[in-house]
Amino acid sequence: MQQRILGRTGRSVSIVGLGTWQLGADWGSVSESDALAVLEASAEAGVTFFDTADVYGDGRSETIIGRFRAANAELPLTVATKMGRRLDQVPENYTLANFREWIDRSRSNLRMDTLDLVQLHCPPTAVYSSDEVFDALDTLVGEGAIANYGVSVERCDEALKAIARPNVASVQIIFNAFRLKPLEKVLPTALDAGVGIIARVPLASGLLSGRYTKDTTFAPQDHRTFNRHGEAFDVGETFSGVDFEVGVEAAQRFADAVASVRDARGLDCVDKLTPAKAAIAWVTQQPGVSTVIPGARNIDQARSNAAAGSVEALGDEFDAEVHGIYDEYIRADVHDRW
Ligand SMILES: NC(=O)c1ccc[n+]([C@@H]2O[C@H](COP(=O)([O-])OP(=O)(O)OC[C@H]3O[C@@H](n4cnc5c(N)ncnc54)[C@H](OP(=O)(O)O)[C@@H]3O)[C@@H](O)[C@H]2O)c1
Repeated sequence: MQQRILGRTGRSVSIVGLGTWQLGADWGSVSESDALAVLEASAEAGVTFFDTADVYGDGRSETIIGRFRAANAELPLTVATKMGRRLDQVPENYTLANFREWIDRSRSNLRMDTLDLVQLHCPPTAVYSSDEVFDALDTLVGEGAIANYGVSVERCDEALKAIARPNVASVQIIFNAFRLKPLEKVLPTALDAGVGIIARVPLASGLLSGRYTKDTTFAPQDHRTFNRHGEAFDVGETFSGVDFEVGVEAAQRFADAVASVRDARGLDCVDKLTPAKAAIAWVTQQPGVSTVIPGARNIDQARSNAAAGSVEALGDEFDAEVHGIYDEYIRADVHDRW
């Protein structure tokens, strides 16, 4: 698995990491042994970067990663967690005292004295303009509670504000074939500034795998059921903010484009380049991306996603098709919202 430096952390991480929201909650239940198996399969396939958050399963995802780390101390893992959603997301809650409390809980869950990377978890826009917030984060680095900090953002303008802060090591943002706006300014600016980009939701919550039809339903406790219209959190996190039925049609076109690459390369076995693999590989192949963090629910998904790290360049024709699909199906509803 190819490694890249994750921005100002200076740490080397696999170009395909693992998102572990699925190991906590909001996607229906995953047993602890299945969750550990996903971590194991990913690590065996060369994944060295795990993304989690203190709210995924109210600490369950962090705790499972902590167990895995403790049992595999020899692995060169980087764990990124997030904080800021255990209280209301109002600027007054982003204080040094709260940061300390949240970080201490994550240190305990993850069994780490110094956290590798802590990201503000989609804070309100006003937080990006607060020097006190970033001074507090610098203090925690100085104290050795965290080695680095970054921000997980909803919008491109927030990403640009975060990148302009001198000690922000990384920015996590939704970037996939159905969310192309980061290509315009965010990726080039991050590259110039040496800030890492962690690309999340690379499969548009699974849509880009091409597995769903308009009749597909999800479990009641899965956010793809309960947050379709942004009822619980930003709708951009669910199917990337794309209307489900439109997304299913666009995903079919995406799958056709992947089939053309397979045909052109004589890849007779579909497994060699599935739409999911191509969607993840395409993200890793965009300049400025440090790592991509697909969520996986089982070991087959984890292995297949890691294998996307070795897909050879998809090429200009495929790239043009991705932009064409975006322009035809997605741009009007999505481009200016995030
Ligand atoms: N605010 C934030 O900071 C924030 C928000 C969202 C996500 N994240 C992070 O980003 C990570 C990734 O985003 P995400 O999990 O929301 O979305 P995603 O990676 O775009 O989609 C994950 C879903 O795609 C499907 N899938 C995964 N691998 C597959 C494969 N090989 N073949 C077919 N289908 C596959 C699975 O759907 P099924 O469940 O239908 O099998 C899985 O649940 C999260 O786990 C989390 O760590 C952060």
